[in-house]
Amino acid sequence: MLKRYPVMRSWPTGRTLPCTFQHQIGIAALLLVCASSAVAGQRSAARASTPSGQARPTPRTATFPRSTAATVNQLMRGLFFPASNVVFAAQLDDPASIPRDVRSSVSTDLLKSVFGGWEAVENSALAIAEGVPLLLIEGRACSNGRPSPAGEAEWQRYAEATRTAALLSAKAAHAQDQDLIVDATGQLSESCSACHRAYRSEGGLPPDPMRRCAPRSSGQGRPR
Ligand code: HEC
Repeated sequence: MLKRYPVMRSWPTGRTLPCTFQHQIGIAALLLVCASSAVAGQRSAARASTPSGQARPTPRTATFPRSTAATVNQLMRGLFFPASNVVFAAQLDDPASIPRDVRSSVSTDLLKSVFGGWEAVENSALAIAEGVPLLLIEGRACSNGRPSPAGEAEWQRYAEATRTAALLSAKAAHAQDQDLIVDATGQLSESCSACHRAYRSEGGLPPDPMRRCAPRSSGQGRPR
């Protein structure tokens, strides 16, 4: 027998989760509701166990780990690539006219999802903008084992240009303006390519993957 799709199972039936629903509110909203009720529960438990009955100070949350989990390539494939494809799609098709998937709440195509259309374009552009600082964390590795050149001024300039273009794209999407989005995404695409020319270059033939992420200051990694 086929297993039921776990995400579908967690959709608003009101039975499988401690939270109750009135409407389909989406996974993000659901998590928020659960998280805030968990925090509220924690707080009231903390208050209840104080002998004097006074509210305790909110317990300090654990320090967020600063180590990285993904290589630069994994970040690119997992975040920048899918998000930018959603943004670039607005160059060709008017996002407002894209129909939703039948199962829009579990769609893997963001443009056709429950949060699709222009909203998906805007949110994907914002995801890129928010993702750029992840490229600036020191200590992230590249796919070839080299440390990412996050400390290099040139890398940082390319990263900043991507962030600026992503924010411009988000603004155009918010305004639902296809002329603006064509300009903004042109800028975005160029900003990705500029960094790739400098730091993703694998040289001539045969390609040498070890040239990726080579510090520019060392003179390595420059396109031949
Ligand atoms: C600051 C530099 C920089 C910026 C900006 C940047 N990239 Fe990258 N990108 C790289 C590097 C370096 C690699 C190779 C990393 C590795 O091998 O670990 C890479 C790899 C990739 C890959 C995977 C290629 C492969 O071989 O699998 C994709 C896809 C990609 N980038 C897309 C994008 C898109 C889309 C944007 C813009 C929205 C972007 N990148 C912006 C530096 C950058």
